[in-house]
Amino acid sequence: MHGVNLDQLGRRDAGHYGGLTFDQLEQRIGEQAHAVGLQCRFFHANHEGDFVEHLHRLESLADGLIVNPGAWTHYSYAIRDALEIAALPTVEVHLSDVQAREEFRRRSVISDLCLATVSGQGPDGYAVALARLHEELTARAGGT
Ligand code: DQA
Repeated sequence: MHGVNLDQLGRRDAGHYGGLTFDQLEQRIGEQAHAVGLQCRFFHANHEGDFVEHLHRLESLADGLIVNPGAWTHYSYAIRDALEIAALPTVEVHLSDVQAREEFRRRSVISDLCLATVSGQGPDGYAVALARLHEELTARAGGT
C-alpha cells in the first residue's frame, strides 16, 4: 500500500526517491514478489480515509502487508489505528533514508506495529521487505 504523494514519483526529488515513475516502481515490486513466490496486489491513495478504509478491508484480501504511507507515516494515528485493526504481518518501507533527513521524518507512528522497517534502500527496499514478509508467512504456516 502506497500513501500520499507516492503516485508522483518521477516528479519528486530524485536525490531522495530515485528516478523511477510510480508505475515503474509497482512493476518492479511485482517482479520482486514473483521472484520470491508471492502474489501481490497494489493500492494507492492520496486521501487518508480511502487508505484507512482499504486497511479495514484487508483482512479478506491479503495474508501480509508492505506499506509506505508517505508523510502519513510521521503523524497519522488514524492509519496507525487502522493498521492495528488489520492485524496483518506488516513491513514498513521508505524509499529515502528517513533517519537522515528532516527531524520530523525520524518519527514513525507505525513502526512498532511492523515486523521491520526498511528505509534508504530505494526500490530494492521492497525486495528486502518481501523477503522478510515471505519468511514470516512461511514461519506462520509452519514451514522452515
Ligand atoms: C517516504 C518518506 C516520507 O517522509 C515522505 O513524506 C514520503 C516518502 C519515502 O518513501 O521515503 O512521501 O515515505
